Amino acid sequence: MNRGVLEQALDAMPAAVAVLDGTGSETYSNRLWHDLTRDESFHDFLGRAGASIVQGVNDGMQAVRSGMLPVFEQAYPVYLGTEARWFELKATAAAGFKDGLLLIHTDITERRLEQERLRASETNYREIFDKANDGVFIHDIRTGRMLDANFKLYEMYGYTAEEFKSIMVGAISADRPPYTQSDALKWIRKAARDEPQLFEWLAKDRNGRLFWVEVNLKRARIAGQERLLAIVRDITERKRAEDEVLRARRALSLGSHISTLGEVGASLAHELNQPLAAIMTNAQAALRMLACRGAEPTELREILGDIAADDERAAGMVRRMREPLSSKASDTQRLELNGLVEDMRLLLKADTLAAGAALDLYLAPDLPALRGDRIQLQQVVMNLVVNATEAARAMPPGQRRVTILTRREDGRSLRLQVEDSGLGLTQGELECIFEPFWTTKPNGLGLGLSISRTLVEAHGGRIFAENRPEGGARFVVVLPTEETADGEPAAWTRGDR
Ligand SMILES: Nc1ncnc2c1ncn2[C@@H]1O[C@H](COP(=O)(O)OP(=O)(O)O)[C@@H](O)[C@H]1O
Ligand SMILES: [Mg+2]
Repeated sequence: MNRGVLEQALDAMPAAVAVLDGTGSETYSNRLWHDLTRDESFHDFLGRAGASIVQGVNDGMQAVRSGMLPVFEQAYPVYLGTEARWFELKATAAAGFKDGLLLIHTDITERRLEQERLRASETNYREIFDKANDGVFIHDIRTGRMLDANFKLYEMYGYTAEEFKSIMVGAISADRPPYTQSDALKWIRKAARDEPQLFEWLAKDRNGRLFWVEVNLKRARIAGQERLLAIVRDITERKRAEDEVLRARRALSLGSHISTLGEVGASLAHELNQPLAAIMTNAQAALRMLACRGAEPTELREILGDIAADDERAAGMVRRMREPLSSKASDTQRLELNGLVEDMRLLLKADTLAAGAALDLYLAPDLPALRGDRIQLQQVVMNLVVNATEAARAMPPGQRRVTILTRREDGRSLRLQVEDSGLGLTQGELECIFEPFWTTKPNGLGLGLSISRTLVEAHGGRIFAENRPEGGARFVVVLPTEETADGEPAAWTRGDR
């Protein structure tokens, strides 16, 4: 190959090339070398990198010259004006020159920047990964093995990221169907094959404690690899709240209670029709009799007797309907009034919140206990709060308030108060709201207050309503304390109303 072609090739190379002779002067350099050094000598050019670099490079080149090192490599920044560019120098012995050196200089500035960016984004990613509020596992998409785990998972499960790598998912699961290792792998396979999966999982921490998590499995490309991400959220608290509301709802069987009452009301109306129709027929017959042929006392007495009997039948039906509520002072136990209200807090909150109303509880500490049926008294609180919430709806959202208060009434009794920020009660309403079937609501049954009164009186207490001076209504329930109630068995027999 002739020298011209060789030089042409060297000039086309993306590296700067030079040959130094034994004295250190350049005997050859390609085009890029000239561009790079701006026609300075290599010594001057290197000088821009700083004294310690110069020293290091000189020592390295000496080592190559003396045959101690086959290649010397070094990267350094060179300051060209205000800009620093990074170079990598490679020096080898130049064949055919005594003590000659072949120098190859490559500009690695871009490469270094890229590496720095990568390192920075790696650090960023790690930071986000570890600061996440949810636990994040990275799984091998084929084997399901855990490759990485963030700090949140350490808090949740008690294993370090390193330890996670050596255990399988079975070890951090309840490990009984459907929460076993193989169940987990099924989910993983499904997410790897189809779309992302979202499911609840019974997990186990390092101490064997079980807790509920929600897992979101989805594919992701991480550092160029197909992975499976498992985003894990502790839902123990949510589960507990859900259970609490469910339990409370079931206990009060609010929905079913109301619909049962509705049904009872409907069938009662149906049954009442019969005696009412009979009374009407008999009354009309009596009227006709009087009008046409003058009164026949025996016949009239018979008809009036029938009317009285039918009326008695109707009254009996109404009585029977109310009986199951009143005669059942059933499940009597020692109760803390505050505890009883506290246990309903979530349920009540859910109901007031749905109406956009704020609920405040002011529970006086150290109240004496009372005796009664927990469910029945909770039913009373529920009825009053439902009414209060409905009343508060008359106001704009920011002004809807419901307040529950407990305190001592006197030495013998406790007071429970439910207040609202609604429109309050008219004089007429104050007189009849406790009557059964009295309602001002289009879909109201008019039974809530009547039932509440029956229940409160069955506990030897009383209930009344008043208007608050600041506006809105106040319903007051006064119940005897345990000691008082014990001494007065009469309190348990319902007043005859
Ligand atoms: N907090 C209250 N503020 C204003 N009116 C009330 C309140 N609570 C009850 N009432 C009145 O008493 C009536 C009867 O209440 P209730 O017996 O619970 O039956 P319902 O709620 O089905 O109407 C209601 O329709 C309403 O007119
Ligand atoms: Mg009501």
